[in-house]
Amino acid sequence: MSTTVLYFSGTGNSLTVAQSLARELADARTISLAELRGLTEDNPFKIDSETVVFVFPVYASGIPVIVRESLKRISFSGVPYVCAIATCGSSPGAAVGIFASELQKSLSVKLSAGWALVMPGNYTPLYGAYSDQVNNRMLASASERLRQLIPLIASRTVAALETTSLPVAWLFWFIWKGFAGWVGRSDRHFRALSACTGCGLCEQVCPVENIRLSSAGRPVWQHHCEQCMACLQFCPVEAIQFCWWTKGRRRYRHPQITAAMITAQKKFAG
Ligand SMILES: Cc1cc2nc3c(=O)[nH]c(=O)nc-3n(C[C@H](O)[C@H](O)[C@H](O)COP(=O)(O)O)c2cc1C
Ligand code: SF4
Ligand code: SF4
Repeated sequence: MSTTVLYFSGTGNSLTVAQSLARELADARTISLAELRGLTEDNPFKIDSETVVFVFPVYASGIPVIVRESLKRISFSGVPYVCAIATCGSSPGAAVGIFASELQKSLSVKLSAGWALVMPGNYTPLYGAYSDQVNNRMLASASERLRQLIPLIASRTVAALETTSLPVAWLFWFIWKGFAGWVGRSDRHFRALSACTGCGLCEQVCPVENIRLSSAGRPVWQHHCEQCMACLQFCPVEAIQFCWWTKGRRRYRHPQITAAMITAQKKFAG
């Protein structure tokens, strides 16, 4: 019984979940959704596994735009068991429900189970990261929960989706719709301070190639951003700021994930 784990990750939380699933489930491979960006509906990525797991971060109580768009670049042969794990900083809002609805719309497949996994938050425009001690505690309890989910996925369990119910779900859906319309050009608010050394790491880690270095060696954002925070979190000198309010805020990226691992999302990892 083969498994395909499809993932997207900006700062490594979802990547570690995908890696654990690939290690623990029999005959499993990981595929990065960032790698599928070049494909089209007419030339989709064909998946013939019996089990398909999607892993992604929660954005604005919903899903990353790249996850929604990736569903148009995939085709299933047969009807697989499909489940999802949404990693989040505190609450998944309507993310699992929104994902289920987009999955049904794009691929006419029902989401059999969808779980939320609380991990450290990475959205520095709203808050600074917790201490290493708190982050490590959160990561340990997320690992424990994931250990409990793995047998459920292996046995293709059908379970209630971990998502907000109506009418609050409508509010979350509305917030997410606003986010999805705004996110591409949201990078107008990024800038690099004079501390920038021109190392180019931000350009490398951006999973959607939304950064080019200028001839002066400064990042220039290209207006198809996902707000994944990889550039801001991995900049070695914390030169990247979003508006003025991220300055001095503690950064977060998963302690076991390197910039090279995030960069590798643009190539097949599985
Ligand atoms: C643009 C953006 C929006 C986010 N919105 C939410 C949210 O609505 N609820 C929440 O609990 N966490 C939210 N987060 C936090 C992430 O979902 C969380 O840190 C996730 O595990 C990051 O995954 P990654 O490291 O794989 O990128 C948000 C993060 C970003 C970058
Ligand atoms: S990662 Fe930071 S220091 Fe390096 S080029 Fe980008 S902004 Fe400049
Ligand atoms: S520009 Fe930065 S925030 Fe936007 S998608 Fe690229 S790495 Fe993520």
